[in-house]
Amino acid sequence: MTENSTPTSNGRLGILMPGLGAVSSTVIAGVMAARQGSVAPIGSLSQMGRIQVDPADPDSDKPLIKEFVPIADMNDLVFGGWDPISANALEAAQVANVLQGEDLAAISSELEGVVAMDAVFDQKWVSRLEGVRVKELTSKWDQAMALMDDIERFRSENGCDRLVMVWCGSTEAYSEPSDVHSSLDAFEQGLKDNDDNIAPSQIYAYAALQSNVPFCNGAPNLSLDFPGMVELAEKRGVPICGKDFKTGQTLMKTLIAPGLKTRQLGLNGWFSTNILGNRDGEVLDAPENFKTKEVSKLGVLGSILEPENNPELYGDIEHEVRINYYKPRGDNKEGWDAIDIFGWLGYEMQIKVDFLCRDSILAAPLVLDMALFMDLAAQNGASGIQDWMSFYFKAPQFNNPDHIEHDLFAQERMLHAKLREFANS
Ligand SMILES: NC(=O)c1ccc[n+]([C@@H]2O[C@H](COP(=O)([O-])OP(=O)(O)OC[C@H]3O[C@@H](n4cnc5c(N)ncnc54)[C@H](O)[C@@H]3O)[C@@H](O)[C@H]2O)c1
Repeated sequence: MTENSTPTSNGRLGILMPGLGAVSSTVIAGVMAARQGSVAPIGSLSQMGRIQVDPADPDSDKPLIKEFVPIADMNDLVFGGWDPISANALEAAQVANVLQGEDLAAISSELEGVVAMDAVFDQKWVSRLEGVRVKELTSKWDQAMALMDDIERFRSENGCDRLVMVWCGSTEAYSEPSDVHSSLDAFEQGLKDNDDNIAPSQIYAYAALQSNVPFCNGAPNLSLDFPGMVELAEKRGVPICGKDFKTGQTLMKTLIAPGLKTRQLGLNGWFSTNILGNRDGEVLDAPENFKTKEVSKLGVLGSILEPENNPELYGDIEHEVRINYYKPRGDNKEGWDAIDIFGWLGYEMQIKVDFLCRDSILAAPLVLDMALFMDLAAQNGASGIQDWMSFYFKAPQFNNPDHIEHDLFAQERMLHAKLREFANS
C-alpha cells in the first residue's frame, strides 16, 4: 500500500445467504440504507472501526480499517439467498418485524428484488418449520449439484467478480460428527448414499467450497466443523469460519468474564436465561435444536477463566443457559444473567445483567464484516479455518481445538494482527 492512498478492492462482491430471515433481511436493509446515506453502519468494525498501524506504538496512525485494507465497497455488494418460506428479503423483513415500516419504505423495491432461491431443506432438522419453497430433489448429491448451479447462475446474472456465503439459516437439530464426516471421500460417498447424518447446512457448505466460495457459519450447526469439510476447504484453497454469531448474552459474557479474571475475582455460578419471540426462538423451542445452541453457549467460560490455572477461583462453576420462546417479545430478546462471584476472604457478591437487546440489530453488522473480511482473506490466498475470525463467534472454530480463544479483546488483537498482515502483503 502506498502512503496516503486508500486501498480498494475492485469488482462486485455477491453475498449469498442461506436463510432469508430476520438477520439476513436486516443486513441487506441496513446496507441499502447506508448506501443511500440515510444511516451509518453502526456496529460494523469494517466500516467504522479504526486500527493502530503499529501495535507497539500507541502514537502511530489509527486509520479507518476500510481505508487500511482493500475490502469491497458497500456500493459493490449484491445480495442473494435461499429460503424454504420467505419469498424475498422484503417479505422476510416484514415477517421478522425488526425494522420499522418507515425504514423499509425507502428501500422496499430494492429489498423485494432479492428473491429467495428454493432451499435445500429437510424438516427432520428443523421440526418447527414447514418448508414450501424447497427443491424437489431427494438425492443429497443432486441437491449439492443444484446449489452449485444456483451459485453459478447468481454469479453470472449479477456480474459478480467474487462471492462469499454466510449461513443465516435456522439452527438445526443437534448432531455430532459421525463416520460420514471423517474425510472428504466419506462425505461425498455419504451425499451419494443419502446418509441421514448429513444436514442441509452441510450441503450448502459443500456446494460453496466446491464453487471456491468462502463460507461463514452464523449458526451453531455442524456445517463446517468436521474433518471432511476442513479437508475440502484446504484442498480448494478456500477460507472458512464459524460458528454461531456472538451477539447478545454471549457477547456480554465474553466482556465480563475476562474482567473478573483480570481482577482475580472468583466465580461460583453464572445463570443465563432469555426470552425471545422470533422465528429463531420458535425453532429453538424444540429441544433438539436448543441443544445445538446450548452447547455453543456453554463453551465460553472455561477457556476464558482457565480453571486449571486458578482452581480456587474457577474450579467449581455452575453454568446454566436457558432460552424460552415468548412470542410477544419478537426479535427484541431479553437476556438475564445472575452472576455469583466472590472476593477478599471469600465474601460473596452478585452481579445482575438485564440486556434488552435486539438480536438482529446486533447480528447484522457482523454478517457484513465477516463477508468483507473473508473476501479479503480469499484474495490474499487464505484457506481452511480462519482462527482470527473468532471475534465474531460464540463457539469459534480453531485449527487447534485445544486452544480456543473466547476473550473478545484477545480476539480483536488477532483480527487486527491479520489485517496488518493483509495490508502489508
Ligand atoms: N440474531 C442473532 O443475534 C443470532 C445470534 C447467533 C446466531 N444466530 C443464528 O442465526 C440464524 C438466523 O437467525 P434469524 O434470527 O435470522 O432466524 P430466522 O428464523 O428469522 O431466519 C432463519 C431463516 O432460515 C430459513 N431456513 C431454515 N432452514 C433452511 C435451509 N435449509 N435453507 C435455507 N433457509 C433455511 C428459515 O425459513 C428462516 O427464514 C439462526 O440459526 C440463529 O440461531 C442469530
